[in-house]
This record gives sequence, C-alpha cells and structure tokens, in this order.
Amino acid sequence: MEDKPEIPVLIVGCGYIGRRVGARLAAGQHAVTGLVRSAASVAELRAAGIDTLQADLDGEIPLLAAREIYYFAPPPAAGDHDTRMQRVLAALAVPPRRIVYISTSAVYGDCNGAWIDETQAVAPTTGRGRRRLDAERQLVAWAAAHGSQWVILRVPGIYGPGKLPLARLQQGLPVLRESDAPYTNRIHGDDLASICIAAMQSTHHDTVYNASDGHPGNMTDYFFRVADAAGLPRPPVVSRDEADAVLSAGMLSFLNDSRRMKNDRMLRELGVRLQYPELGAGLKSCFSG
Ligand SMILES: NC(=O)c1ccc[n+]([C@@H]2O[C@H](COP(=O)([O-])OP(=O)(O)OC[C@H]3O[C@@H](n4cnc5c(N)ncnc54)[C@H](OP(=O)(O)O)[C@@H]3O)[C@@H](O)[C@H]2O)c1
Repeated sequence: MEDKPEIPVLIVGCGYIGRRVGARLAAGQHAVTGLVRSAASVAELRAAGIDTLQADLDGEIPLLAAREIYYFAPPPAAGDHDTRMQRVLAALAVPPRRIVYISTSAVYGDCNGAWIDETQAVAPTTGRGRRRLDAERQLVAWAAAHGSQWVILRVPGIYGPGKLPLARLQQGLPVLRESDAPYTNRIHGDDLASICIAAMQSTHHDTVYNASDGHPGNMTDYFFRVADAAGLPRPPVVSRDEADAVLSAGMLSFLNDSRRMKNDRMLRELGVRLQYPELGAGLKSCFSG
C-alpha cells in the first residue's frame, strides 16, 4: 500500500505550546517545521525531532509555505500593531488551507468580573491587548482576501509542567490580597495543544473560541495553590492601595481586567475533552513524574 503524502505544517513561534503541538503532529501524518528566533530554540527543536527554520520576525524573513499554519508567536513588545503578523502574512508564498492563531483573552479588556462568551465586545485596555486585536484583524482580512480559513483562539493564562511562577514564589514577591484580586482564567498547556490541533482539524472555521478551562479563579488563589503544590511558602499579600508601589508594571497590567470566560463553544464545536478542567488536577500533572 502506498504511503499517504505528509501534510506540510509550519508552526510560527514554536515554543512551549508549539513543541507540544509539533511533537503530536510529527508522530502522525504531518511534516512539521518550527519557526523560532534563537539558536538555543533551534537546538531544542532538533533534539525533539522537529525540523526548524530560524528567522527573526522583526527583520527579513524568507518566503514561507505550508498547508497548515499554527501562528503562536507573540506580537512585539510595544506599539499598537503586530508588525510580526504583517511580515508573516506578506511572506506566505501560497495561501495555506487554514491558519490557527493563538490570541489572548486580553482583547476583551475589563468585564467587571462578568461571565463572557465570544459575543462579548472587544475593548482591550493594554497595549498587549491592542496588538493582539490588531493581529486578529490582520489575519481575518488577509484570509478573506486569499481564500484561507482561520481560527482564532483567545487564550488566558497558560500553565503546565515547567510553566509555573516558581521563581517568583521563591523570591517571596507579594500578590494582591484575595478580596481585591480580579477574576482570571487559565488553561493547561497540554489541553491548549489539543485545542490547537482540534481547531486545525475541525469542520468549523472562520470562528473565534475562548480557549480556557471553564473554571476561573483569581491570581492570588493561583499563586497560593502553586506554592502549596510546590511546597513553597505562600507569598505575602498587599492591598490594592499598596499594590502600585510594590508590584511590577507587568503584574499590575494583569490586575485591572476581571472576567470569567465561558468555553462552551470551544467544547461543543471543537469536541475537545479537557484533561485538566480544574487547577487541582492540572497542578498535580506538573509535579508528578
Ligand atoms: N503565557 C501565557 O499565559 C499566555 C497567555 C495567552 C497567550 N499567550 C501566547 O501564546 C503563544 C504561545 O505561548 P508559548 O508559551 O508557547 O510561548 P513561548 O514558549 O514564549 O514561545 C514563543 C515562540 O515564539 C518565538 N518568537 C518570539 N519572538 C520571535 C521573533 N521575533 N521572531 C521569531 N520567533 C519569535 C520564540 O522563539 P525563540 O524561543 O527562539 O525566542 C518561541 O519559539 C504566545 O504567543 C504567547 O504570547 C501566552
């Protein structure tokens, strides 16, 4: 019997999630290339058996071609536009069948703690959110003009093995006291990888999905539970009034938005069964084995 031809797949920004997706696809009928910037990441991908393309999305990039593209690279750190997305779209030699894009839930902005689904209006309050929204809009417009399909995943905080705030906890840096902490949402990295692959394979496309575990919490509770699971002391807490003086700008930028994400559309249309819908089991997976 003849072998089926492999499907060429490009993962733009093949880091924590990209490697998970790439490893699963490479084990099947896919020829996977991971685009990364650094020599260290090239070496890591090669060791994992994934072909690599080294390019800096902030500079010249070669022509790109693949039938399926997973776009996981973040936007640049400043401005209101995602110039990296712009460069990648301009470099596509042939329109791919579909592009799956990891965006962030920051595009929704502050929702005063309300439960939100994908019909929630977008209103980013941070530069990070505005650049993501710009990337989403570029992708949708480009795909419409070139006959490609797209799926946008609005992703909240990613956690998993090797992706926990242990260094922060070891330094004893403070967190907001729980009564002042906004709602936050999470997704385990293994589940996010499954969602990405399902998004590429689904009959549904040209759609936005909330890619969260459906069990919001708050960041203080998250830090407490990670500390408990890791056997580290819980961090000290500060009030909202004290926070501006002691928390980093990066941390503060996460504290102004409060929302609880519904993931029903993702579960229903992509048919994903989450392995870690709750933080307890997800944290266990980070410390076992
Ligand atoms: N962390 C969270 O909680 C969270 C929440 C929502 C969304 N996201 C987004 O989800 C996506 C996937 O997350 P992740 O954890 O897999 O991210 P990650 O591990 O940081 O991987 C990002 C990848 O993008 C590459 N990259 C970054 N800048 C680049 C540039 N200028 N040129 C070429 N490649 C570049 C990196 O390459 P090098 O390794 O060579 O630098 C790396 O392979 C990211 O866009 C992230 O921002 C994250």
